[in-house]
Amino acid sequence: MQPGTGLTLDILPAEFPLSDCQIPIRGYSYAMDTAHEVKAPVTVLEWVGGSADGTLRLLDQTLLPERTQYVDCRNVETLWDAIRRLVVRGAPAIGVAAGYGMVLAGQQAADLPALMADLDRAASYLESSRPTAVNLSWAVRRVLDKARAAAAGPTQGVDGLRRLLLDEAHAIHAEDQALCLAIGRYAEPLVRRCAGVLTHCNAGALATAGIGTATAGLYLAHAAGHRFCVYCDETRPLLQGSRLTAWELMQAGIDAVVITDSMAAHVLRQGRVQMVITGADRIAANGDAANKIGTYSLALAARAHNVPFYVAAPYSTFDLSIADGSEIPIEERGGEEITHGFGRATAPAGVKTYCPAFDVTPANLITAIITDRGVIQPVGEREVRGVIG
Ligand code: MRU
Repeated sequence: MQPGTGLTLDILPAEFPLSDCQIPIRGYSYAMDTAHEVKAPVTVLEWVGGSADGTLRLLDQTLLPERTQYVDCRNVETLWDAIRRLVVRGAPAIGVAAGYGMVLAGQQAADLPALMADLDRAASYLESSRPTAVNLSWAVRRVLDKARAAAAGPTQGVDGLRRLLLDEAHAIHAEDQALCLAIGRYAEPLVRRCAGVLTHCNAGALATAGIGTATAGLYLAHAAGHRFCVYCDETRPLLQGSRLTAWELMQAGIDAVVITDSMAAHVLRQGRVQMVITGADRIAANGDAANKIGTYSLALAARAHNVPFYVAAPYSTFDLSIADGSEIPIEERGGEEITHGFGRATAPAGVKTYCPAFDVTPANLITAIITDRGVIQPVGEREVRGVIG
C-alpha cells in the first residue's frame, strides 16, 4: 500500500479548531503535502568501513544527557551487550543495529557454509538480547533470509555475500529514516491543532535512524512554524523521557517540559495537553500495543480525561503472528534499576523487586495507530490488517 492510502473512513473538516483536540477523531485522510523536512538532531548509529572489516558505531545513550560519546562494536558479542545495556535502544534503532550485527557476524568465516552457520547462530543470539521489540527479530531475519536466498543461488563467494549483507543492513537503515518521515507526515496535522502534547519514554530520533516515531509529527510541525509544548514523562526507572526525549527536543528548539510519571494524570486533568502520543515495541494483530512500562496507565488516564491517545509505529513494529497483547513477551530487568537508579540506593538493601520493562495498552484505549502506511482507526484486527497487510 502506498503512503497516503491507509485505511480512511471519513474526512475531517478542513478547519478543526484547537479546542476540538480532545474529541477522538473518527478516521481521516491527509494529503502528503509537507514540503519541509527536518533532520534528526543527532546521529544514533553508523556503519564505518567496508563489509569485511567495518564496525558499527553507536551513540552511547546511557551517558546522555551529560556526554555525547560513541562506542564501536567490532563483533556480535559487543553489540549484544550494547543492546542489553541500552547503549542503543528504542525498537527501530535496535532493529537497524541488529541488521548491522549480522554484517559483523559474517566477518570471520573462511567459506560459505561457515559463514551461513555464523549467521544462523548470530540471528538467535542477537534475538536473545531483548525480547519485546519485534523490530530486532524482524531485521535479523530479513538479513538472514537475504543471505539464504543468495547462498542458494549462483555462487558469489564469501566476499560477495558479505557485501550483500551490508547492502541489506544499509537498506534497513535508510528505510527506517523514510518510515519515520512517513509517520510524521500523518501525525503533523494532529500536532498542529495542539498547544500541549504529552509523550512517554523516548520514541524519538534517539530511538530510530530518523526523526523518531512519536516525535516525527512534533519535528515536522515545529519546522512548519507551529509552536507548542511537549510534556515529557520522566519514565521511571531509566529516565528515557527526561534524559533522552527532553534532550533531543531541546536540541531542536522544541519547548520541552519534564514531569514525573505520576504527574501525568494531573497534567491531563488540567487540560494542558490535547493529545498523548507514544511509540511501541510490538503491536499484535488486534492492535494491542506493548511499550515502555507506564504507557498503559497513561492511556487509562488519557481515556478518563477524554484526551486522544495515539501510538506511532512503523510496519516493522507489527507482529501479525500473534492475536493479541497477551502473547507479547515482556522483558523483565534487574531490580537494581529500581533500587540503585543513578548512583545511590533508593530502597533498603536486600528488598525484593519486580521490574517489568514494558506493558501492553489494550487496543480499546488507543484512539489511532499512526503508521508509515496510513492511520489505523478505529483500532481493531480488521483495520490493522487493512493497513499493515
Ligand atoms: O527500553 P527502551 O528504552 O528500549 O524502550 C523504548 C520504548 O519503549 C519506545 O517507546 C519504543 O521502543 C518505541 S521507539 C520508536
